[in-house]
Amino acid sequence: MESSRTREMTSFIVMDVLERAQELEREGARIIHLEVGEPDFDAPACVIEAACKALKDGFTHYTHSLGLYELRVAICEHYQKHYQVSVDPDQIIVTSGSSPAIFLVFSALLEKGDEVIISDPHYACYPNFIRFVDGRLITIPVYEEDGFQYRPEVIREKITPRTRAVFINSPSNPTGNLLSADRMQQIAELTKCEQCPYIVSDEIYHGLVYEGKAHSILEFSDHAFVLNGFSKQFAMTGLRLGYVIGPKAFIRPMQKLQQNFFISANAMVQQAGIAALRDAGDDVSRMQTIYNERRLFMIRRLKELGFGITVEPTGAFYVFANARHVSGDSYKLAFDILEKAHVGVSPGIDFGENGEGYLRFSYANSLENIEEGMDRLEKYLEDRV
Ligand SMILES: Cc1ncc(COP(=O)(O)O)c(C=O)c1O
Repeated sequence: MESSRTREMTSFIVMDVLERAQELEREGARIIHLEVGEPDFDAPACVIEAACKALKDGFTHYTHSLGLYELRVAICEHYQKHYQVSVDPDQIIVTSGSSPAIFLVFSALLEKGDEVIISDPHYACYPNFIRFVDGRLITIPVYEEDGFQYRPEVIREKITPRTRAVFINSPSNPTGNLLSADRMQQIAELTKCEQCPYIVSDEIYHGLVYEGKAHSILEFSDHAFVLNGFSKQFAMTGLRLGYVIGPKAFIRPMQKLQQNFFISANAMVQQAGIAALRDAGDDVSRMQTIYNERRLFMIRRLKELGFGITVEPTGAFYVFANARHVSGDSYKLAFDILEKAHVGVSPGIDFGENGEGYLRFSYANSLENIEEGMDRLEKYLEDRV
């Protein structure tokens, strides 16, 4: 019998949709993939070159468990340049993607029964990380009328002596919305004492912002952990590189976890990460311009098709659209759209109970494919009535 830890783990429904889509593809169907949260771009040329060079230069060994010093310095420069905050290389642990970074942070922070406040909807995998280390999730519903932003006064009401962290994610997956500087400031104010909860800020979609500005939590508080990575902004999902920036007192505890469980991140990919941070600015701008064009097109088409988008998303590469007029069961609806229209979309329920009735559409796909996907969706909706 499997352990209760794995039994209690929910599946990542987006991956279930993708796997069913792949089955249909094997049977000959042409699927338009709007379900996956992965850039369709390949990694920038400077990243590939740096990775190949690193291999030839012998970067085939373990690195320091905290990560290559030069990469950590480059991360500090990045935070200084974009947010005018000063980070010390000793506050950083480089990981194989931001997913292991989430694991390190919650493993180091939580005792059994400690509470973590998260918004609902939220990134589908967050609850499993928290439950895996015996933490308790305290969800706060956020609403489309508010652009799915937290209301700081509701966070205040939910904080108890057991609250260890407030989780934020801006730009957000699945909603694509940003948390305003004002609200970040107000949340930071709630967490400013020694015994107060920490803010854990997932900044993985920074650099993919089309209107407004993404702020780092470090602009407002030191009582915080930053999770970040190279998967989205630099289109490096398969290279697996991320990091955590945290208060110095937690670095040694997290380092021990890293040493035991992961040893270090991949050496040659760390070299590629240095190139991404220092030389990939033009590539990031190019991808951003293309994503923005797709974003505007997708929002317009989804609205024409009758989907509810109250506050238009301005970051990441997702549109979280209200589909309640079509069905209240987003799981069934997503699979029905896949089977009948051959368009992959993510059911809102994957992102929390409050996501029920929504569908998440990813525009990390070509404009041509998005156009085709929207046309197929239009036909599907016509055929339903
Ligand atoms: C909000 C968010 N955080 C973290 C991750 C994990 O990314 P990775 O492990 O590739 O860095 C994802 C991936 O989709 C995400 O959407």
